[in-house]
Amino acid sequence: MRSGRNAFIFDLDGVIVDTAKYHYLAWKKLADRLGIFFDETENEKFKGVSRQKSLELLLQSGGVSASESDFNQWMHEKNEDYLNLIQDMTEDEILVDVKKVLDHLKERGQGVALGSASKNATLILDRVGLTSYFEVIIDGNKVSKAKPDPEVFIKAASGLNVSPEYSVVFEDAIAGVEAANRAGMYSIGVGDTETLQHAKHVVKDFTELTLPFLDQLIDRE
Ligand code: BG6
Ligand code: MG
Repeated sequence: MRSGRNAFIFDLDGVIVDTAKYHYLAWKKLADRLGIFFDETENEKFKGVSRQKSLELLLQSGGVSASESDFNQWMHEKNEDYLNLIQDMTEDEILVDVKKVLDHLKERGQGVALGSASKNATLILDRVGLTSYFEVIIDGNKVSKAKPDPEVFIKAASGLNVSPEYSVVFEDAIAGVEAANRAGMYSIGVGDTETLQHAKHVVKDFTELTLPFLDQLIDRE
């Protein structure tokens, strides 16, 4: 019988807080300005992907080339728009039943980490008052390879001293599910079943993640 400590690694945007919609709005504004088609379906490819990689994808899809200074300026503008959209954010933006899950994991002595591509992650966690739940925080400032590369989750699990085999990842992004799978972890998609079809298990949101199911994950051999 092993100790029972697993790693539970949470993506941030679209899993813990309802910020995926703000990233979308900020990219949409830039895309419109540059005359590049961008809609919610296109946006699925951007979820979980770093700011730099997202802009590369956007420019590629619109066949737009950019000088280095344009590129940096557009990344900056997108982030300024995003920061404006989240400036009045409160704990009301914490997604449904996230706290229920976090509290249960803490009660059961589990390792809890953040694995996010965002460079704004600590700002957001502080703003919604969730920082103290996370023993380890790996964000966009701590990784060199964007999801679907597994680096972010491997670092999070190793920070908790848990092997990938006993690590569970919550993700709303196709790229994030792929990263978790590549890391050899148990991927739980949060969102649409078809979009997240490569996840080992999918829930619409955390209301569907029951405590008995969490206990099964915690106690699996
Ligand atoms: C991810 C989001 O969590 O972070 C992406 O899903 C975003 O949409 C990425 O591009 C980088 O975030 P930021 O805050 O560093 O621009
Ligand atoms: Mg996400």
